[in-house]
Amino acid sequence: MRTVDILDTTLRDGEQTAGVNLNTEEKIEIAKRLEKLGVDVMEAGFPAASKGDLEAVRKVASIVKNSSVTALARSNKSDIDAAWEALKNSAEPRLHVFIATSPIHMTYKLKKTPDQVVEAAVQSVRYARKKFSVVQWSAEDACRSDLLFLTRIVEKVIDAGAKVINIPDTVGFINPEEYGKIFTYLRENVPNIDRAILSAHCHDDLGMAVANSLSAIENGADQVECTINGIGERAGNASLEEIAVALAIREDFYQAKTNLKLNEISRTSQLVSRLTGIAVPPNKAVVGKNAFAHESGIHQDGVLKEKSTYEIITPELVGVPSNQLVLGKHSGRHAFKNYLSKLGFHPDENKVNNVFEEFKKLADRKKEMTEEDILALLIDHRIQP
Ligand code: KIV
Ligand code: ZN
Repeated sequence: MRTVDILDTTLRDGEQTAGVNLNTEEKIEIAKRLEKLGVDVMEAGFPAASKGDLEAVRKVASIVKNSSVTALARSNKSDIDAAWEALKNSAEPRLHVFIATSPIHMTYKLKKTPDQVVEAAVQSVRYARKKFSVVQWSAEDACRSDLLFLTRIVEKVIDAGAKVINIPDTVGFINPEEYGKIFTYLRENVPNIDRAILSAHCHDDLGMAVANSLSAIENGADQVECTINGIGERAGNASLEEIAVALAIREDFYQAKTNLKLNEISRTSQLVSRLTGIAVPPNKAVVGKNAFAHESGIHQDGVLKEKSTYEIITPELVGVPSNQLVLGKHSGRHAFKNYLSKLGFHPDENKVNNVFEEFKKLADRKKEMTEEDILALLIDHRIQP
């Protein structure tokens, strides 16, 4: 069983979610929780972006002791200097430097030839290594890059001293099979690849960020980059909780584990949602309000007999106290009776049948049945606790 490192980028790529702006105190609160969750590396920000971000990264870096702290820089000296300024007092500083490698980005955004991009990448890593002992290098828009060019530039930056090579699917364009093949190809064709670890970084534009990240792991990635609740640019990044729980539940298949304390997931998700103002959709895997809620009679009956019939993840695994049997028009008599007994009511079968009939009529008219609705029905039928 190998261990995959988790690089959480909630405080950097996650903060790039439209409408999100975290102040220093908020970043510190999230960073402390990420440290409790056990992330191996946290990307705290982009110090060259603003004085405020530099200050926030500096504070996070000075407080966090049990995770490595990293910060982003473009391939120029002033960005790298700003990142060093922010990270120099950190216990385990890491620089994350990037440059785009796709023809689209090189031509229109950077206005550089491929050779100039290789030169800039190599110079930036060499410069960074004078300050940082760990330098992570990213090929922005790697998945729309020419694979031979990617192979060449990766070899050069490893020679220049990069210890982590990140292959971002910047625009969420790739699918799991293709993404996996890039990792296999690089492992087999970059001669010095053993001197670095490979990392995956996926965006969710086509809804495949988590599947792509898992495919990268299957094909030799030893680090995945992700965010809490999958927040991030546009459709967001791969969500940390989904990757971590998929690895844990399907350990038999992936043969890989993380250092995360999974039972911190729910609290971390709630904190990030509250401080960013980005609500978690109710049906979101692992952390959505409905992730452990059963509504239909067939499912409720199954879960009451044996939880594993419809629950592959135990709520306790991710820090949720228990599952929920939600009463609605699809609910069955078994779940209804169970609900009444949890409220302290144990009517005889006849009374259960009568009140259940009334409950079904009401449930047909209402979207959600509340505890008050059930209590009112019990009072109507003169049922005492
Ligand atoms: O998506 C991306 O390409 C990035 C890089 C800066 C790593 O976030
Ligand atoms: Zn990104």
